[in-house]
Amino acid sequence: MENRQMLAAQVAAPDPDHPDRALAVGPCPTPADRPGHTRVALRASALNMHDVWMLRGLAPSPSSGPRVLGSDGAGLTDDGREVIVYPVALGAGPEHVTPLGTLLSDLGAGLLAEEAVVRSEHLVTKPAHLSWAEAAALPTSWLTAYRMLFTQGRLDAGSTLLVQGAGGGVATAALALGRAVGATVMVTSRSAEKRERALALGADHVVATGERLPALADVVIDAVGPATFEHSIAATAVGGRVVTCGSATGFVAPLNLARLFAREITVHGSTMGTFEEFTALVGLVDRYRLRPEVDSTLPLERLDEQVRRMVEGDAFGKLCVALG
Ligand SMILES: NC(=O)c1ccc[n+]([C@@H]2O[C@H](COP(=O)([O-])OP(=O)(O)OC[C@H]3O[C@@H](n4cnc5c(N)ncnc54)[C@H](OP(=O)(O)O)[C@@H]3O)[C@@H](O)[C@H]2O)c1
Repeated sequence: MENRQMLAAQVAAPDPDHPDRALAVGPCPTPADRPGHTRVALRASALNMHDVWMLRGLAPSPSSGPRVLGSDGAGLTDDGREVIVYPVALGAGPEHVTPLGTLLSDLGAGLLAEEAVVRSEHLVTKPAHLSWAEAAALPTSWLTAYRMLFTQGRLDAGSTLLVQGAGGGVATAALALGRAVGATVMVTSRSAEKRERALALGADHVVATGERLPALADVVIDAVGPATFEHSIAATAVGGRVVTCGSATGFVAPLNLARLFAREITVHGSTMGTFEEFTALVGLVDRYRLRPEVDSTLPLERLDEQVRRMVEGDAFGKLCVALG
């Protein structure tokens, strides 16, 4: 097994300005068998901002050994089971980070590769209605959105939800999940075309980024950061929850304290999700026949194009990679 080669995407030398140039797609040894682990022949993977950060050198990659990128993947086990891989490397992170904050790619054992050896108990059966690319689109963005909405935001059918940034991986997931449970969903975007697409996906209201909304929100999903955070607080109803998981536009956002205390708003940080949340998410996707938005799917050899598309911010939904 150990002498076989596979195609994989690795971090070559991080480049803060040109993450696509930091990418090396080429042959590397297949991962070795490990007790308690299962080999998965991956059929699709998906790109996340975390991979771009690793390519920029903002999220450290392992200093030695394989540096395979990617934490999202779906594929086949040796006995023919169609599976989706849980993207969190539980228990592998340093103590000062949340236990959910370490992804498979942080260990260099990522899924932008033809094969992976993953913990057997971290495989979930792929819902039959999903294509391989749709299945690979689920783990990181959809799990993050699930925990933000239901665990942190306590969203229910009677809630009004605001999702900042229609086109993002987390945002498209939040829209679909919010609709599935019967919430009223408002979506913002910089792009008129993306606002139209959000409407077609079932958003009740769409407005341009930062514009006035038809109602205040009980739950706000903000993965955008400084460009939208002030608007998120302004758009929250009394007792509402603003949930942030990331910062597509930077890390330091202004905060109107008067609004925060006068309306008794709670701001939650959220990272990925537990394995129990992952199985609940996949169950919900199966039950409601939800289909993740896939912007495009390219072969692994063209991953640099997906990296540039993510950096440019033009995508609507997940940037996927076909494997095998
Ligand atoms: N903590 C976690 O566990 C976790 C998990 C997943 C992701 N994240 C983080 O969440 C963030 C988003 O991830 P993603 O995968 O959804 O990224 P993505 O697919 O690249 O989406 C980027 C989002 O940002 C919006 N946006 C970008 N520039 C903007 C600007 N100047 N003004 C307003 N909106 C802007 C886009 O909205 P429009 O183009 O529609 O306007 C889109 O919703 C990243 O920082 C990522 O690292 C964190």
